[in-house]
Amino acid sequence: MKKYNVCIVGGGSTYTLGFLKSFARMQEEFPLNKLVLFDIDGERQKPIGQYGEIMFKERYPELDFSYTTDPAEAYKDMDFIFMQMRAGGLHMRQKDEHIPLSFGKIGQETCGAGGMSYGLRSCVDMVEAIHQIREYSPEAWILNYSNPAAIVAECLRREFPDDKKILNICDQPENVVRSTSRLLGCDWNDLDPVYFGLNHYGWFTHMYDRKTGEDLLPKIRQIVKEKGFLPQDAEQRDKSWLETYGFVQTMLEDFPDYLPNTYDGYYLYPEYKASHLNPNYTRADEVIDGREKRVFKECEEVIKAGKLGDKFHAISDAHAEMMIKVAEAIAFNTLGRFILIVENNGAIANMQDDAMVEVVCELGINGPRPLRVGNIPQFYLGLLVQQVSSEKLLVDAYYEHSYQKALEAFTLNRLINDAKEARKILDALIEANGDQWPELK
Ligand code: NAD
Ligand code: G6P
Ligand code: MN
Repeated sequence: MKKYNVCIVGGGSTYTLGFLKSFARMQEEFPLNKLVLFDIDGERQKPIGQYGEIMFKERYPELDFSYTTDPAEAYKDMDFIFMQMRAGGLHMRQKDEHIPLSFGKIGQETCGAGGMSYGLRSCVDMVEAIHQIREYSPEAWILNYSNPAAIVAECLRREFPDDKKILNICDQPENVVRSTSRLLGCDWNDLDPVYFGLNHYGWFTHMYDRKTGEDLLPKIRQIVKEKGFLPQDAEQRDKSWLETYGFVQTMLEDFPDYLPNTYDGYYLYPEYKASHLNPNYTRADEVIDGREKRVFKECEEVIKAGKLGDKFHAISDAHAEMMIKVAEAIAFNTLGRFILIVENNGAIANMQDDAMVEVVCELGINGPRPLRVGNIPQFYLGLLVQQVSSEKLLVDAYYEHSYQKALEAFTLNRLINDAKEARKILDALIEANGDQWPELK
């Protein structure tokens, strides 16, 4: 059986420990020959690399594991590259979230002005990284989930139009399916969803029972109305995530047709959401004080002890599991179903062909094959066309170094929606991003 060579770009990420453990757990399903962590910040990556050395010695001794800051070492002869970089780091995420909120508009990792701020940084770094990867591994599958995935996907579509081995992925639709299964008391694999949207902006039109074919959406609506909505892994979540999931109840009351992605709340209730976020302490601060500290503390403890002990079981990780399942589907041509980000080309019949949309796809060795959802209703079409236009204009701004296009992207975004505010926020973000953004003239 073939064993695969895998590189993780952004080895110092707070998600890497989850991946290391999941690769060890899933060694039968997706066998590895070699695993390399790559990061531009060697100091940040080091404890995670050391943790990996200790863990794999115990759990996966035949695996060739290493970590590096040298692209040549990282990218050579790879089969799969998992990309999870955060351009600018969590420190810039803080600015992306705080600055727009100081103008009364939502600052969020991927939505609104915060997402666009992060988006331009990610375009710069992702384009550079993928050109480098292609020098060393022209045939590797690149699985990208670096955010903001919608903007990154649009940029990569333009930068690498003939490259059919770049796949953009988000775990949130699957997280919502998993959460729904908790509500229904069933296995999430027994649910067969139909979904449409853009990344972090979509809806489930149906949630079929895979065994009986029954559409469970009416039942789901009723349970959410009575009991609210919780993430599948609620016990491991910070408070803000519980609120974000809980908000599905409000969305379903106002828009009962479809089950929403949790991110839709930002677009449907921008004023309410902005007024309930603390401009001085956002999700970025919560991550810095929470997940980031927990991860590096766990590394420290394992390195000090020189062994893993019970730490192997500390994190269960749906995120890593999904990404590894995606690689497995490609490697073994399983044609399993995943919700993925692909060029539309008729999947949503009444949306433009060149929009990067998120829909259910069959996935195998020849890449994703999207399942058509037909025409979507005018309300949803209106929301999505506005957003896809904003995202495309932002990517225009990146390529053309155009202040005007960026201003249009900001003005059109539903979370800003006002040209004077758009200009003020854009100017503040130009200042904050400095040379991490392309120059806008
Ligand atoms: P993090 O800041 O902890 O980790 C990111 C790592 O990337 C850091 O170690 C940083 O040094 C490194 N990095 C930055 N620029 C780089 C570059 N040019 N080349 C290589 N490495 C670089 O962030 P995190 O919270 O762990 O998140 C990591 C990424 O995963 C983010 O982009 C996040 O949005 C994304 N993510 C996406 C999904 C999804 O559904 N698409 C889910 C979870 C996380
Ligand atoms: C979900 C989304 C990701 C996002 C992550 C943010 O998994 O799908 O795109 O990056 O949540 O999580 P955080 O805990 O960093 O706010
Ligand atoms: Mn996502």
